[in-house]
Amino acid sequence: MTGRIPRQFIDELLSRVDIVDVVDEYVPLRKGGKDHKACCPFHNEKTPSFTVSADKQFYHCFGCGAHGTAIGFLMDYAHMDFIEAVEDLASRAGLEVPREAGGEQGESLQPLLDMLARASAYYQQQLRQHREAARAVDYLRSRGLSGEIAAAFGLGFAPPGWDNLLGALGGRDAERTLMARAGLLVEKSGGGYYDRFRDRITFPILDRRGRTVGFGARVLGDDTPKYLNSPETPVFHKGRELYGLYQARKAAGHPQRLIVVEGYMDVVALAQHGIRNAVATLGTAATEAHLEQLFRVSQDVVFCFDGDEAGRRAAWRALETALPAMHDGRQALFMFLPEGQDPDSLVRTEGPEAFAAAVEAADSLGTFLFDRLAARVDRSTIDGRARLAELARPLLAKLPEGSFRELCYRRLAELTGLAPENSATLGSGRGNARARSPASPLDKQKRQSPSLVRKVITWLLHYPSLGQGVTSTDHLRSLELPGVPLLLELVETLEDRPNLTTGGLLERFRDHASGRHLARLAAEEVAPLDAGLEREFSDSLEKLHRLADDQRFALLARKGREGHLSDAEKREFARLSGGAGQDGGGGNATLDPG
Ligand code: UTP
Ligand code: MN
Repeated sequence: MTGRIPRQFIDELLSRVDIVDVVDEYVPLRKGGKDHKACCPFHNEKTPSFTVSADKQFYHCFGCGAHGTAIGFLMDYAHMDFIEAVEDLASRAGLEVPREAGGEQGESLQPLLDMLARASAYYQQQLRQHREAARAVDYLRSRGLSGEIAAAFGLGFAPPGWDNLLGALGGRDAERTLMARAGLLVEKSGGGYYDRFRDRITFPILDRRGRTVGFGARVLGDDTPKYLNSPETPVFHKGRELYGLYQARKAAGHPQRLIVVEGYMDVVALAQHGIRNAVATLGTAATEAHLEQLFRVSQDVVFCFDGDEAGRRAAWRALETALPAMHDGRQALFMFLPEGQDPDSLVRTEGPEAFAAAVEAADSLGTFLFDRLAARVDRSTIDGRARLAELARPLLAKLPEGSFRELCYRRLAELTGLAPENSATLGSGRGNARARSPASPLDKQKRQSPSLVRKVITWLLHYPSLGQGVTSTDHLRSLELPGVPLLLELVETLEDRPNLTTGGLLERFRDHASGRHLARLAAEEVAPLDAGLEREFSDSLEKLHRLADDQRFALLARKGREGHLSDAEKREFARLSGGAGQDGGGGNATLDPG
């Protein structure tokens, strides 16, 4: 990989291009009031609720909630990846994309990719031409596959023998080295190479841009191992790639949902029966990287498992991996097949309708989670309900902030009969409020205040110029409330770059744990920026400062009772007791007067 793109370049880029022009090229916009509007390209509608703001450099659909920056639009609408989107914008602005030196910068991966492409072409050609290809073709037919589907997935044939590919593509030393690095050849202990895949059907594995990065290869009969896969190489990482994702996107762009099945054959057989939105991991459990890829393509991801206990255990693992990815708007579902069936056998014996019915019967993540947990305890007893809460908490704590998380906590409260917990105080993100005494007198404030911090964050996002009014962050730094670290990061970013737009600010936080949360806040409706709002903003900051003082006061009071105050702390305590209730006075003002 080449080096990172410097942040300053992204800032610069976003200040040069106008999101209105970018979007307009794909979705013609009409000026309506301050903003530009169109019918939303991300959902079906008759009256325009898709809005693009030149001020904020941000788009938002009031209908379906889609939102993002110019880069985000190219990624979500034009299916580019981040680098492609940045390059596209840079070429519009006439800028060259700089790369940071060092890091991953190394030799280009292109020769490896080219070699893999040549190998794939070779295998496909052998499926048509090799004298023993009839066996392979017959095998594929016996599995119910047509030539058209075999071609759509680039299926091929690695002929029997030790040096077919080697002889065809490895004429020179450099080529053989490249082939070995691409995982196509295996090195002999005494030197030299031989073909890794022999007498097998080859399944090229394509990355999201459709480039061949590796292969799975199946025996024609019942030999073992059934599949050989490419080893990890600089371009092939099992934990990242998804078999069939490229084809699914080619068939449907952003399919409404993706179905994750277990095997290569399942993906291909489903496609044969018109179900073109199935993908498979490469014989491993789904990883977080897989989840992110899946959710970038579709809002709904259905995990398909066998109906037996092993299937349920695998589903539970997938659920645990999915939890941190469950941002609002995304849905993970879990479907279970009749025992003894896999997707391939189900579509072939009972038809695609039977498979579709099983998809429709999928459990939502929430249902699956609470059903499985409830099955492990006896909810008719107090102990059982307490146990349920204990089992659920660490899982729910993995959910990102948002309404889904809130709903899950509410559901837990219903099931246990306990008072609903405020999820924000339960291990959300950085401030570990759990570690502190739950009976502290600050609990009440803790529970009310996230909304205040949230409001301030939201205003800053919508109107980054407000950041210039924050002249000191010392108080905020000591404030123990969820969201405060994020607020501080925003303020500091704006100190550095006061002219960032909403879009520019969001790009700064693209890879941040709270990036999506911020983007959602930026899509909320807020009052226009006027003197009233500015006052409200500064009043809110003032409140946060007083809260910080109160927290500090309570802390010192407790330490004082225990007799551990240092001299400096005693002075601070005296100052805080004197200043309590004193409005906005003293040296604590953090806002410019104007
Ligand atoms: P399956 O055994 O379910 O394979 O393994 P399948 O794709 O349905 O193939 P058929 O129907 O038996 O022909 C599921 C996945 O596990 C990985 C492969 O990715 C396979 O698609 N696997 C399986 C291997 O990597 N090696 C193996 O030996 C077996
Ligand atoms: Mn199978």
